Amino acid sequence: MENIKQEKKIVYSAIQATGIPSLGNYFGAIKNWKDMQNNYDCIFAIADLHSLTVRQDPIKFKKNARTMFLLLLALGLDPEKNIIYFQSHVHEHCELAWILNCFTYMGELNRMTQFKDKSKKHSDNINAGLFTYPVLMAADILLYGADFVPTGADQKQHIEICRDIAQRFNNIFGDIFKIPEPLINKTGARIMNLQDPNKKMSKSDQDGVIFLFEEKNIILNKIKKAVTDSENKICFSEEKPGVSNLLNIYASAKNLDISQAENYFVNKNYGELKKIVGEAVIELLEPIQKKYLELEKEKDYVDNLIKMGAERARRLAQKKLYKVKKKIGLLV
Ligand code: TYM
Repeated sequence: MENIKQEKKIVYSAIQATGIPSLGNYFGAIKNWKDMQNNYDCIFAIADLHSLTVRQDPIKFKKNARTMFLLLLALGLDPEKNIIYFQSHVHEHCELAWILNCFTYMGELNRMTQFKDKSKKHSDNINAGLFTYPVLMAADILLYGADFVPTGADQKQHIEICRDIAQRFNNIFGDIFKIPEPLINKTGARIMNLQDPNKKMSKSDQDGVIFLFEEKNIILNKIKKAVTDSENKICFSEEKPGVSNLLNIYASAKNLDISQAENYFVNKNYGELKKIVGEAVIELLEPIQKKYLELEKEKDYVDNLIKMGAERARRLAQKKLYKVKKKIGLLV
């Protein structure tokens, strides 16, 4: 990919390295990555530096990072076709982030809803990294000249600020950065907490989240206990966040659009809905879990892939950073 003339559009996305991903991560992001790998030049990172904005236990952190890499392979991402790597293996990200920090305003960062949410959640550790988090994300994306950034809806604001920073930089120094487009799917972009369907599903939730490694019975149970309403009518509507969330999960699992999912459940009750959604999720996750266990045994193979991913990403990142440094007048 690195040596030939770019013909395909470039896709860039990343996922943090904390814990097992949730069904939200899967439907909001990784599933789309898998679908895109045949039509685009894709670069996918494990954003381990972003995860440092929250305190991590070093031993667990290291384990989780590797788990995430294996999972991306188990989910069906091809490590030859795509570049899959760890953000911390390519120090150019931090260098570009510093430069971009100097082109980003405090006021812009102050408006980031995720910063506000995370500051509330981790009020004892509102660190500078949490504040400048979107700038590192902008550096990730801009280093690789991404055309498209597929994510869940929660990252939209971060991609917008990335575009603003890139445009500001280009206005001063000429056409250095490609302006990326967010790609946010209609279904799956916002999977909600099963226990509180007004909140997005996140890894720190307990009963409200389904992890990609969850056991069959736990998945069925969690979905069985999902909060719905007393109407017993299956349709997608803002007034029915719980039922809508289950329909969304079903549609994402079965590659349907929401109205097709609604039609399927027309004459069914909530009990049936939950059972069928649970089975659809299990059907989806079982082969991934199986593949993961196989990969876990292939240590050398995986180590080599990790090294290869870093080298390929570094080559691209170095080129872009060199251009940026030269343009802004650093001695290169
Ligand atoms: P992270 O690790 O929080 O989430 C990874 C991806 O999963 C999506 N997602 C969801 N989608 C639907 N429903 C949900 N409940 C849900 N929860 C999470 C996220 O939108 C994301 O696409 N800052 C990013 C990682 C990152 C990145 C980047 C992404 C770092 N650099 C450059 C794109 C480009 C993050 O923390 O994602």
